[in-house]
Amino acid sequence: MAAHARVICRAADLVDGGPGVRFTVRRQGVDEQAFAVRFRGRVAAYFNRCAHVSIELDWQPGEFFDDSKVYLICATHGALYSPADGRCLGGRCNGRGLTPLPVEERDGSIYFTPSEQIS
Ligand code: FES
Repeated sequence: MAAHARVICRAADLVDGGPGVRFTVRRQGVDEQAFAVRFRGRVAAYFNRCAHVSIELDWQPGEFFDDSKVYLICATHGALYSPADGRCLGGRCNGRGLTPLPVEERDGSIYFTPSEQIS
């Protein structure tokens, strides 16, 4: 499986609490937007879709963190999510949270690992 992992960006492109990197995945034949961020050293990635209404989180491309740099925020109505696991921490999504995607940091790059459902 790891052989098919693909590079999203360089590891240095993801600064802790800084701008996220957007990328595209394919699910059931449809291209979907995703993003990766770094938080407390670790990299995490999610579908770029608010759990409240199906729209992208970043209003300014790549701006996923709130002002405190502790939460991911939906720029539209302010839902807050945990950067570490996508859990809903408040706002309008009623506990649904973000959908994580498998990413890994290795050899100075960030890799996305496709599955049968998401490539
Ligand atoms: S669309 Fe994200 S909080 Fe409403």
